[in-house]
Amino acid sequence: MKKIIIAASILSADFAALKYDVKMVEEFGAAWIHIDVMDGHFVPNIGIGPQVVRSLRSVTKLLFDVHLMITNPEKYWQEFQKAGADLITFHNEVLTDKKKLVDDIKSSGVKAGISIKPGTSISQIESLLPYVDLVLVMAVEPGFGGQSFMESIVSKIKDLREIIDRNGYNCFIEVDGGIDSQTAPLCVNAGADALVSGNYIFSAENPKAAVKSLLI
Ligand code: DX5
Ligand code: ZN
Repeated sequence: MKKIIIAASILSADFAALKYDVKMVEEFGAAWIHIDVMDGHFVPNIGIGPQVVRSLRSVTKLLFDVHLMITNPEKYWQEFQKAGADLITFHNEVLTDKKKLVDDIKSSGVKAGISIKPGTSISQIESLLPYVDLVLVMAVEPGFGGQSFMESIVSKIKDLREIIDRNGYNCFIEVDGGIDSQTAPLCVNAGADALVSGNYIFSAENPKAAVKSLLI
């Protein structure tokens, strides 16, 4: 069985102790650090900027998985690339030229992902699948940590897995929102490669046990 990638979402970490929280999840087995960027426009919340990415870059060698929940990713993605992002994901629901943005991100030397909100169907990103390194499937409405997983997206993961495998695309499936020990197996069995988890890990009494419980 393949090893699932855990992407710890620092949105739920202690921002006064970010360095220690990142080192902690690294020690416990998280492979990626998920960094939520929010502009107060695409989503009703304001989040992490490039300076935090830059500061954390010297703390860990883990992959930095930057999730841009912003209206104009074409204006800001380079700031995150320069700051040390390894993977930059933007939303399919924005109005930019998505194929061009994927190409631009990849030609800068980092990986590019496309994300879909719970209400967006796979057919809307199918033409991008040969080009993206990752699809980030949202299992909650983007904007906040600690929300409940929408089980209706499990069939979306299955369909996506089938399309990717049938066509031989080199594209990871990552699921974001409401991941815990109950919902993780649903995603893994449906074909997910990576799971984002924030609240479940960082609010746990025992974060080590929480990470371990996701490593199925
Ligand atoms: C939500 C963010 C998520 C969030 C996940 O908009 O994109 O990455 O941090 O948090 P949990 O795991 O708490 O649902
Ligand atoms: Zn996210």
